[in-house]
Amino acid sequence: MPDLPDPPIAELAELTAGLLAQPARISPKYFYDTTGSMLFEQITRLPEYYPTRTEASVMSQHGEAIARAIGPQRIVIEIGAGNCEKARLLCRQIDPAAFVGVDIAGEFLALSVASLRADFPHLPTLAVAGDLHQAIQLPADLPTADRLVFYPGSSIGNFDPAEAVALLQRSRQLLGRDGALLIGVDLVKDSEVLRMAYDDAAGVTADFNLNALVHLNRLLDTNFNPAQWRHIAFYSEAEQRIEMHLEAREDLTVRWPLGTRRFEAGERIHTENSYKHTVAGFKALLHEAGFHHAQAWTDPLEWFAVVLAHP
Ligand code: AVJ
Repeated sequence: MPDLPDPPIAELAELTAGLLAQPARISPKYFYDTTGSMLFEQITRLPEYYPTRTEASVMSQHGEAIARAIGPQRIVIEIGAGNCEKARLLCRQIDPAAFVGVDIAGEFLALSVASLRADFPHLPTLAVAGDLHQAIQLPADLPTADRLVFYPGSSIGNFDPAEAVALLQRSRQLLGRDGALLIGVDLVKDSEVLRMAYDDAAGVTADFNLNALVHLNRLLDTNFNPAQWRHIAFYSEAEQRIEMHLEAREDLTVRWPLGTRRFEAGERIHTENSYKHTVAGFKALLHEAGFHHAQAWTDPLEWFAVVLAHP
């Protein structure tokens, strides 16, 4: 199933540059073809993967306070909406005026928004295929007042601190003075707990990581054989981030129309960073991006924060 239209040449050139770089890298956005979006959904239900259920527990424990702080009749714009499962919960809590989902996996998003519409027949909904690394394009006739940008799931973790500030600024630009941002943030914690969340016993995260190669075979016409690669995940205390890599199990060569790359056994492709934050550290990033008021709710172990920020 195609996800987005054929990628533009510039994107193929950027992918090629990443594969030829030393060390090689692939942006984590390439995890999310339709198979990858489904694997990510499985990850969110793994016992080791605490972020999704911990965020849900914060949203339900503090639901009334959060709903009061947000207020009703917001135009909810969820960026990186995925399966819209969190939107379903939020819409029950805050009585929004409309829902707009934005996601890179366009077809998966369209199906998710359609299923949300079935649960909320009176809620106007819209699905917008878009890449959060670029300016977020919304329909010109979408009202600008009373918007709420919703970015749950700690997806902000994929962005390094400077890029995170840039994305928060792009979110800020979607909002007027009366706008707000509700964002999920994964917090710094014991490094074993962190590592296990990205290297689960059932191997779902390994499949998710390896699926990026299958996606590239389709996009870029590479001839990756996933069986020749191993999933690697570890926590770097110094960088305050989980790193995921794919490691060559043997010497091999990857060929595609725009390049050729030899990998020796043990050589890696860096596929993802997932940054962890402290509440104070994250509030400082928000401040840099033009959000000057923020309140945070957390679970009792302080593993995850839900933050509401205003310009
Ligand atoms: C979707 C970026 C929030 O970093 O936890 C999960 C992606 N990667 N397991 C995360 C992911 C491996 C996830 N985010």
